[in-house]
Amino acid sequence: MSLKVVIIGGGSSYTPEIIEGFIKRHRHFPVSTITLVDIEAGKEKLEIVGQFARRMIKKAGAPIELEWTLDRKEALMGADYVTTQIRVGGLSAREKDERIPLSHGVIGQETNGAGGIFKALRTIPVLMDMCHDIHTICPDAWLINFTNPAGIVTEALLKYSPHKKVIGVCNIPFNMKNSVAEMMNCAADDVQIEFVGMNHFVFGKRVWVKGEDMTSLILDKLIHQEADYSPANIVSLGWSKEFLQALGMLPNPYHQYYFQRDAVLEKDLQAFEENGTRAEVVRKVEKELFIQYKKEELNEKPKELENRGGAYYSDAACSLMESIYTNKGDIQTINTQNNGSIPDLPHDAVIEVNAVITRDGPQPLTVGPLPPSVKGIIQQMKAFEELVIRAARSGEYTHVYQAMVMNPLVQNEGVARQLVDELLEAHKEFLPQFN
Ligand code: G6P
Ligand code: MN
Repeated sequence: MSLKVVIIGGGSSYTPEIIEGFIKRHRHFPVSTITLVDIEAGKEKLEIVGQFARRMIKKAGAPIELEWTLDRKEALMGADYVTTQIRVGGLSAREKDERIPLSHGVIGQETNGAGGIFKALRTIPVLMDMCHDIHTICPDAWLINFTNPAGIVTEALLKYSPHKKVIGVCNIPFNMKNSVAEMMNCAADDVQIEFVGMNHFVFGKRVWVKGEDMTSLILDKLIHQEADYSPANIVSLGWSKEFLQALGMLPNPYHQYYFQRDAVLEKDLQAFEENGTRAEVVRKVEKELFIQYKKEELNEKPKELENRGGAYYSDAACSLMESIYTNKGDIQTINTQNNGSIPDLPHDAVIEVNAVITRDGPQPLTVGPLPPSVKGIIQQMKAFEELVIRAARSGEYTHVYQAMVMNPLVQNEGVARQLVDELLEAHKEFLPQFN
């Protein structure tokens, strides 16, 4: 039986990560064709990654055909799974998302605050187009979306695109689980974390190790900094005892932007002065990676890929596809519509949640009412995300402004206006809905 996966944004430096995932799982998830797709501007990278991916597959001896193309519509023909990992406007757009807020003394981050808003504004219309294509060309295909801001993008697609087989993924819940396993000296499969919240704003509400509730022990270990599950892109400041005890849940690394805002900002401004934005750092890492990818003798994913924040995302993406394919019925943490799992949030809001994965897709487990400590902020963040989606669709200045001023990392009417004005101008090439 043929099984085809299409990777949109195939020229990304992350692609070897997902190729390794398919190779590792080939016995249970026998992908026969992988098609990498990219745009004209990414042609050269696509070629390099394509050649390298072929060498990886050959070395592993897996019977997978790998091809690459700039023709998205043609690539989608016969697809069973489509993954996206694109960045509209490339790293230079990301650099502006980070630099402009930082230059106003506000957190400048790819998926949070002002930067995250503009990344969503650029990305949602493009992903919406892709979904239309998928819906007409390969309507049975599952779209696994890794494109950031993954939660917001997934919500926009599930609400407004005709294609409903869409699931969002992120490596953060996966990293948290692995890190607990490391702390407890056990296998990742022995760890269960109940998550509550949304992408890049998710809390680990309870943690079980081999079926036993170990939440307070893990919190204790976090207090003593015996664990650190920050990805490469986020500074890690650790958490105070008071905060963790009051919260009673595991925060994720992105929460530092919200609950240690000033300290993080200070560190980020310092890093910005020394090394420029994260986008500029990533550009250097990518350059090095591509030098490696070009080497004829390289046929395995290089270690240096771990310098990227999204390292190991393929485990989240590939195990999800495998469980859909095998109708496995296991539990994975993904982004899907709430559907009553958290009664305090709208049914059609996308949350990051544990779900049973079968061939029908994800079925979220009940989380229950939001804990009082985080109820307000989660509802505020969700309302903010709705504002962002509305702005991306309408192209109305007022809508972006509302999202900007209501974001907890901005919350200043004058600064919000300056940021909206500067970012709209800086990104106008990629924001046709606003012109
Ligand atoms: C984390 C996030 C990803 C994000 C990545 C950025 O892992 O979960 O959503 O894309 O970091 O990493 P980078 O190396 O591009 O800064
Ligand atoms: Mn993520």
